[in-house]
Amino acid sequence: MIKILMVCLGNICRSPLAEGILKSKLPSHKFRVDSAGTGNYHIGCTPDKRSIAVARKYGLDISNLSGRQFSVADFDTFDYIYVMDASNYNNVIALARDTNDKRKVKFILNEIYPTENYEVPDPYFGGDDGFENVYKMLDEACSKIAKQLI
Ligand code: 4NP
Repeated sequence: MIKILMVCLGNICRSPLAEGILKSKLPSHKFRVDSAGTGNYHIGCTPDKRSIAVARKYGLDISNLSGRQFSVADFDTFDYIYVMDASNYNNVIALARDTNDKRKVKFILNEIYPTENYEVPDPYFGGDDGFENVYKMLDEACSKIAKQLI
């Protein structure tokens, strides 16, 4: 079983979308995909309704996901940890215990634009088109991830 974790700040906008998208591209008997937030504001919450809506538009149901906070134990569980932006990266790296933990952490858009460290913008305070934009970025990145792993 290969295990992949998607990480953002709140675990209600970007990482639940990334989780749903990547799950849809990988066979569930071989891959576990999960998501978490570096913050603790939305523990136990369902995804933002705008993330649920854009996922539904593209045929995915993420409405039953539940927010949780990233923890150091995730370094033991997961093989790959994808972050959305530099702030997420710094927060996750700050919890890493050694180089083995650190090498698991990658900017998700580096799958499309290697080494650029481009960010998936936080759509929380913007309009619906921000969620559409995030969906498209994540869909492209997740296609690349799935292609490499399958
Ligand atoms: P996310 O977006 O990190 O993509 O889930 C956010 C959701 C909530 C907050 C920030 C970002 N917040 O400050 O409550």
